[in-house]
Amino acid sequence: MAKREFEKKILCIGAGYVGGPTMAMIAAKCPQYEVTVVDVDPARIAAWQSDSLPIYEPGLLEVVKKARGNNLMFSTEIEANIRKADIIFVSVNTPTKTFGDGAGRAADLQYWEKTARSILSAAESDKIIVEKSTLPVRTAKAMARILNANESGFHFEVLSNPEFLAEGTAVADLENPDRVLIGSRENEQGLKARAQVVDIYANWVPRKRIITSNVWSAELSKLVANAFLAQRISSINSISALCEKTEANVVEVAHAIGMDSRIGSRFLDAGVGFGGSCFKKDILNLVYICEHYGLNEVAQYWESVVKINEYQEQRFVRTMVKVMFNTVAGKRIAIFGFAFKKDTGDTRESPAIYVTKQLCAEKAGVVIFDPKALDNAKRDLRGLEDYVEFTDDPYAAAKGSHAIAVLTEWELFAALDYQRIYDSMEKPAFIFDGRNILDHQALYEIGFSVFPIGKPALKHF
Ligand code: NAD
Ligand code: UGA
Repeated sequence: MAKREFEKKILCIGAGYVGGPTMAMIAAKCPQYEVTVVDVDPARIAAWQSDSLPIYEPGLLEVVKKARGNNLMFSTEIEANIRKADIIFVSVNTPTKTFGDGAGRAADLQYWEKTARSILSAAESDKIIVEKSTLPVRTAKAMARILNANESGFHFEVLSNPEFLAEGTAVADLENPDRVLIGSRENEQGLKARAQVVDIYANWVPRKRIITSNVWSAELSKLVANAFLAQRISSINSISALCEKTEANVVEVAHAIGMDSRIGSRFLDAGVGFGGSCFKKDILNLVYICEHYGLNEVAQYWESVVKINEYQEQRFVRTMVKVMFNTVAGKRIAIFGFAFKKDTGDTRESPAIYVTKQLCAEKAGVVIFDPKALDNAKRDLRGLEDYVEFTDDPYAAAKGSHAIAVLTEWELFAALDYQRIYDSMEKPAFIFDGRNILDHQALYEIGFSVFPIGKPALKHF
């Protein structure tokens, strides 16, 4: 059988939460392109080739299955795939640096730079390189320098196409994005490359939602979008603390301010704090860049978003210990939800990590239930096995516990039989609803003492 000719050969380096879903969507929407995703991690690639994908994301398996084996491939052969690609997306991890200058703030660009060097050593023709990872503003310049410092004469045009998907809703976000942003140099070569990347998305995204800019605006917009989203959460969380002192109800306050169309109603759910691999890392990166340019007041302003988040997590545990008669030592506490949000198994920077570790430091026994995140939770809590148990049954977690702490907004938590749970617990029985998702009045009537976020507690003592 003759080998099929594809219009474009697209490669993505990095098969993680972004690379996998993004490329699966491009492949599913564009059968005329060949899309290959490569990674240094063979286990991850093997999982992408199976029906047990390496990440839990609703609807993703269907999208992958639609294209896999036709025009979507997963592979560990990085060099050979670089050689044949026309357009290379780079979607490797860019965590916060843990060493050296900028430790704890700056982005660790070692994985990113390694990919640039692999591209350089393997390429045998001109390429368009697309930054998909979230990167500090002006990274494209460094990248272009590395790539174009070669004697081969090949040209590498570096573009920025940051990804705005959220975990748990990745498929819908990719299928119907608010916008796609493509930044390029604004000279002839840059504009030509930009048009090629616009053409990919135009296969399914309306043109008016594909926006273009210079590279620096695109890089910076990604950091700023995450900073603004996180800022809204820290703002409402800061107000939740005031509500708890004044008998105001943060849900009512959020509703009242959110109806102002200038403010808008989304991202105003107070809770135990934001998690996820990106908000904290990207804000700290922004802070570092501001400091680099001597903009110390700007840096402090954004850093306060992270500080309020830490305060909110600390406040949650302090409340637990205080109301449980100033000691949780030897008490069994059930954690409902370990993922950083619902509909994902991802636990990176989940508030549940901090809460569990603090409860262990207070010598509580912690039992964790989560429908999708137990494997990651076990990895996060390695070394705490003397204090922590894991179960896939919420009723078993609650049995014999003094308290339940709800840390993820999984919908199934609202549907549990709380009378049965109450009957199996030690008394007085406490519920700390870190996501305000339960029916607090009904729980109170069953007999629980209920501590929501930013609302008056309902106590039986
Ligand atoms: P991830 O850790 O899930 O995936 C990154 C992958 O890159 C890993 O599988 C790793 O093995 C691979 N990798 C690292 N170095 C490599 C190399 N030299 N060659 C080949 N593969 C290599 O990370 P992620 O969550 O997908 O995030 C990737 C980027 O996208 C980050 O910059 C992040 O800030 C950004 N982002 C993430 C999300 C999200 O929801 N997770 C959303 C938008 C943007
Ligand atoms: C976030 C952004 O929403 C995406 O646009 C971005 O692409 C992504 O980061 C990234 O760069 O990685 P994500 O972290 O997957 O996506 O999930 P969000 O829905 O933003 O939730 C982040 C955290 O904030 C979760 O812990 C969530 O529970 C919390 N949150 C969210 C609140 O506490 N209150 C809210 O009102 C909304």
